[in-house]
Amino acid sequence: MATTISEDLNVIFRPVIASDIDRAHQIEVDCFPADEAEPIDKFRYREANCPDLFLGAYLADSDRLIGYIAGTGSSTNIITAESMTQHEPEGRTVCIHSVCVDRAYRRKGLASQMMNEYITRIRQQRKYEKAALISHQHLIPFYESFGFRLFGESNIQLGRETWFDLTMDLITN
Ligand SMILES: CC(C)(COP(=O)(O)OP(=O)(O)OC[C@H]1O[C@@H](n2cnc3c(N)ncnc32)[C@H](O)[C@@H]1OP(=O)(O)O)[C@@H](O)C(=O)NCCC(=O)NCCS
Repeated sequence: MATTISEDLNVIFRPVIASDIDRAHQIEVDCFPADEAEPIDKFRYREANCPDLFLGAYLADSDRLIGYIAGTGSSTNIITAESMTQHEPEGRTVCIHSVCVDRAYRRKGLASQMMNEYITRIRQQRKYEKAALISHQHLIPFYESFGFRLFGESNIQLGRETWFDLTMDLITN
């Protein structure tokens, strides 16, 4: 079922499939500086090993991929270098590695809807207790609006800017 993001933008949320990995990676390369963009083999690995954690936003009328959120399961509470390269099926934390929207569709509310959809879906899986991600300073308020809390400065070194750890509890009583 299509979700209306704005007057002129309707999308369908569904897992990114293997044939869309090149397109997803094209968005990634366009979204991040060269020293922050992840290599395509990580995208292929995630699609093959944890497709439930790789959510795409597809234009409802053309089925073109215009945004995605990619994650892995992990036994750690925060993002580590290992969590970026491997999915631990028994892990209780979803490590979110990329939140990306094609430039042509930004500031319409798509990333916000994608985050809400992603959090709903991982909660529904009932196997994850926490979500974790790293963010640059300017997007901390964006992630806090979904319930993430600032944990501190991250040890991850990717590019030149400082990253911050944010985590949220998925289990609400
Ligand atoms: C960050 C990103 C995912 C936001 O996508 P988007 O669809 O434009 O986001 P939304 O329209 O849902 O934005 C909702 C709110 O988030 C905040 N926000 C969005 N982009 C922002 C930015 N670049 N800087 C600061 N705040 C931002 C704003 O408060 C915005 O509300 P507003 O438009 O009413 O001001 C997109 O700009 C992107 O792909 N950037 C490159 C990749 C990246 O940095 N990803 C995050 C790190 S993994």
